Amino acid sequence: MSDRAPAITIGPLYSADAPDCAALEKVLFPGDDPWSAQMFRDELAIGHFYVAARSSGGLIGYGGLAVVGSASGSHPAEAEIHTIGVAPDQQGHGVGRLLLAQLLARADELGAAVFLEVRTDNSAALGLYRSTGFEQLGIRRNYYRPSGADAFTMCRPARRSSAG
Ligand SMILES: CC(C)(COP(=O)(O)OP(=O)(O)OC[C@H]1O[C@@H](n2cnc3c(N)ncnc32)[C@H](O)[C@@H]1OP(=O)(O)O)[C@@H](O)C(=O)NCCC(=O)NCCS
Repeated sequence: MSDRAPAITIGPLYSADAPDCAALEKVLFPGDDPWSAQMFRDELAIGHFYVAARSSGGLIGYGGLAVVGSASGSHPAEAEIHTIGVAPDQQGHGVGRLLLAQLLARADELGAAVFLEVRTDNSAALGLYRSTGFEQLGIRRNYYRPSGADAFTMCRPARRSSAG
């Protein structure tokens, strides 16, 4: 991480963070139906794996992984990146990479393949995902609402067998 970055801690996301997450969502996804605080609370209540990045000023980023399928036969478990975001004034300092690394470490513990959707014009996120082993699977036209933007579907293959 850059020497310029302020002290940042990565840890669990809590229900009490939901309003701050929703405020960030409005800034980060203005045209794509940003999540409400209740949606974050619901994600946490379901038990999905969420992490937070914090600086002295409070919450600066969040990310969430949902385990959506268990391993079966030769098929690995499956997980999805549900969301990841970093406050605009904190972007470009490695925080997104730190958050994603936590989510992928969790997936690797489970031996899970990881899927996600990302806007085809989101070069920052695409750069992050490609550099962490995601490959493009396909494209979903008009995936995002209300913008109508297209999404790439991407997958990072399972890193180890969940057998045993
Ligand atoms: C995508 C996002 C989470 C990345 O977080 P970040 O903290 O800015 O990213 P990092 O500084 O950790 O950079 C990680 C990698 O992302 C890519 N990246 C980051 N910013 C980029 C930019 N402006 N242009 C191109 N690639 C970029 C690079 O591959 C970078 O790796 P490098 O620094 O080794 O070159 C952040 O830009 C964000 O919150 N965007 C808005 C919300 C969003 O689009 N979320 C993803 C939805 S699928």
